[in-house]
Amino acid sequence: MTDATNRPADAAGQPTAGQPAAGLPAAGQPGNPPSASAVEMMELVLPNDANLLGNCLGGRVMYLIDIAAGMAASRHCRRAVVTASMDSLDFHRPIKVGDAIILQARVNYAARTSMEVEVQVYSENLRTGERRHTCTSYLTFVALDETGRPAAVPPVRPETEADRERYRAAEARRRERLQRIGRGEGGG
Ligand SMILES: CC(C)(COP(=O)(O)OP(=O)(O)OC[C@H]1O[C@@H](n2cnc3c(N)ncnc32)[C@H](O)[C@@H]1OP(=O)(O)O)[C@@H](O)C(=O)NCCC(=O)NCCS
Repeated sequence: MTDATNRPADAAGQPTAGQPAAGLPAAGQPGNPPSASAVEMMELVLPNDANLLGNCLGGRVMYLIDIAAGMAASRHCRRAVVTASMDSLDFHRPIKVGDAIILQARVNYAARTSMEVEVQVYSENLRTGERRHTCTSYLTFVALDETGRPAAVPPVRPETEADRERYRAAEARRRERLQRIGRGEGGG
């Protein structure tokens, strides 16, 4: 039971009249807003997805994160994409068999051929409606052309103050990520 929609992943942050910070694409400039590619995906957790305690397996959650994030990235650039990296992941709460798992994916930032996608994961008790945050994941996807080589992607054009905050934070994470793997400035 998978439902991928075009709804924004997070309604937080309303458009503001203020000028965007220097360096961020402004309204009217080329680029796609995060809301245009956002994905919300929902699945029922079944016994086959769980460990002996009845908790959803971490690997299953990671699989679903990768799927939701990949769809958002592909929607942003309208190309095939591959997962280049997934940042460290902390599971704050278990998701029980019989709960729904909800994944909200949005593209925070795009560089030349790569994009950072954020995925917020929640569990929902379908009887009570209680929703709990499970984890946040940041992934990097690279767009590929028809020959399988990295291809340029459109910029992200933030629309709201929340979009702009995510954009700036993603830019900083990208710098740290590339430093960590020796691909930062001067690192090749
Ligand atoms: C991702 C991949 C295409 C990058 O290839 P590459 O030869 O390093 O390509 P480039 O040097 O041109 O880098 C392309 C982009 O990827 C980014 N990138 C590469 N490795 C990265 C990593 N580990 N983490 C984050 N970004 C990475 C680069 O920063 C660059 O971004 P930019 O163009 O926006 O500046 C290649 O490593 C690959 O195919 N990996 C396997 C992907 C896969 O199969 N994933 C599924 C799991 S097996």
